[in-house]
Amino acid sequence: MTGASTRPQITVLDAGGQYCHLIARKVRESGVYADVRPAPTPASALAGRRGLIISGGPSSVYEAGSPSVDPGIFALGIPVLGICYGHQLMAHLLGGAVQRGEKGEYGLAILEHREPNPLLAGLPDRHQVWMSHRDTVTALPPGFRLLARTGDCPVAAMGDPARRLYGVQFHPEVAHTVHGRRILENFLFAVCACHRDWDLRGRLSELEALVRRAAGDRNVFFFVSGGVDSAVAFTLCLRSLGPQRVRGFYVDTGLMREGETEFVRELFERLAPGSVRIVEAAPRFLAALAGVSDPERKRRIIGDEFIRIQQEILESGHFLEGDWMLGQGTIYPDTIESGGTGQAAVIKTHHNRAPGVQRLLEAGCVVEPLSSFYKDEVREIGRELGLPAELLERHPFPGPGLAIRCLCAEAEIPMERAPEGWLAPLRSVGVQGDSRSYRAVLVLEERPAHGLELRAAELVNRMAGINRVVARVAGHAALESVRVRPASLTPERLARLRRADALVREISHRCGFDRQVWQFPVVLVPLGEAARPDSVVLRPVDSVDGMTARAVLMEPALLDEMATALLAVEGISAVFYDLTHKPPATIEWE
Ligand code: XMP
Repeated sequence: MTGASTRPQITVLDAGGQYCHLIARKVRESGVYADVRPAPTPASALAGRRGLIISGGPSSVYEAGSPSVDPGIFALGIPVLGICYGHQLMAHLLGGAVQRGEKGEYGLAILEHREPNPLLAGLPDRHQVWMSHRDTVTALPPGFRLLARTGDCPVAAMGDPARRLYGVQFHPEVAHTVHGRRILENFLFAVCACHRDWDLRGRLSELEALVRRAAGDRNVFFFVSGGVDSAVAFTLCLRSLGPQRVRGFYVDTGLMREGETEFVRELFERLAPGSVRIVEAAPRFLAALAGVSDPERKRRIIGDEFIRIQQEILESGHFLEGDWMLGQGTIYPDTIESGGTGQAAVIKTHHNRAPGVQRLLEAGCVVEPLSSFYKDEVREIGRELGLPAELLERHPFPGPGLAIRCLCAEAEIPMERAPEGWLAPLRSVGVQGDSRSYRAVLVLEERPAHGLELRAAELVNRMAGINRVVARVAGHAALESVRVRPASLTPERLARLRRADALVREISHRCGFDRQVWQFPVVLVPLGEAARPDSVVLRPVDSVDGMTARAVLMEPALLDEMATALLAVEGISAVFYDLTHKPPATIEWE
């Protein structure tokens, strides 16, 4: 069952991960229901749409194995808009030419119109757009006209108005393209003749009816996490079916933040007393993790244990007898299988598609009322349901919890001097090229300041063997006297991290910094002196969906307040600030 009863008017063909979701979200913000399908979806499966958009992506149309579309889509008689890679792909498939540029064009550019056309109608003749490309269209396909150019890009927009086919090299979906929304709306309304059919306000009753239809006579049970998605899905089911028919389980893994279990208990008690049962499983997780330091092993152990507990509950028989079904807070990006999907999505899919869940899905025993919505739409539904802002505005928190924010080490190793700073003999995870890296961290002795993140990017490119750069904010001991110390996931270290994380959350909430960032991991690393064996890394980032992220800096006064509070925590030697974007680093350290 899906949460949308409407049929999509626009389909975004996914040529590379994150880009397509941003486009689909922007189309929906303009009131038009859009979905995302893999680039090679056959034309026959797309008939009936009012228009198609081919997304951007990181590939080059000439590379073997780069994403392509079914050329049959250009003969469906419906409008098509290619964006960036999609624009180049259209040129390539329809008889134009694409070449690798001498230098790329990244950032802001001024678009100059060449002739009137429906796509750019109503805009000034020159306006700012955002570009990010190396390849460029060098010859128009037959029937196409040049619509606009920029200083560095001779074919920045092209179109064949008779066939209603358009391509733009720039990104109308990003905020830096000043008239991006107008351009997308010109495509939607003037070119495709879409109507507005997507407005979440007032759709609650429709969603409730969908849940009632899917459930029939069956009751629903959930595994809730304290996160937004499962809480909204749970509440929607409560509203649709009544408190007698909905139950939840919350597994306390012992890897949660300070106050988390109490938060969950109170939240659900307020919603429907007795509706959620807390499963105390901390000792099981901690025993399974004892002495383990490899990040992939930690992940596997936690994932397996979680699935085992789910399975035990599922197989307890109690729920499967007669008429129960599983409810899940799966959201739209989690459901999409496509070439460009990154590891974050894969990780999430894994939890919602564990073997026991998969069997229930196949038997039609799963209800996922949010499966057609994006996160911001889920928040809006939550607001309509009257859920507290305190829940809806929560930052995302990873399933494996603090375990992937608590680094472990097997041996004692001193810091190593490097011309640019110090190499910390710690390894953290990163994404470089298409694969995960596991490399050392470079520590700069300066305090974090604007501009230092640019230097960090340059240093990671230049220095082999690192994927992350941090700045030292403050500490009890000089860098030459700290060392990495053997450490694993002990209750003592988890308590230390929990305290540090709670302090940072409290301070950043008080001054509103939490609203300026998308996520703010606090990481414990086994770097210090004998009396204070650990240090804390602050990792605030801005992101859209976690696939890419930018390190965010904070005001010096705020940073000082945090550092002072953290250095007063038992066992903390120093405070560092992560300056690395994703890529090359990941958000979590693992
Ligand atoms: P990375 O570290 O890969 O994280 O840059 C990207 C985003 O995904 C979150 N994350 C997870 N979320 N289960 C989750 O539900 C997981 O196992 C998991 N691992 C990472 C991470 O917090 C960030 O928002």
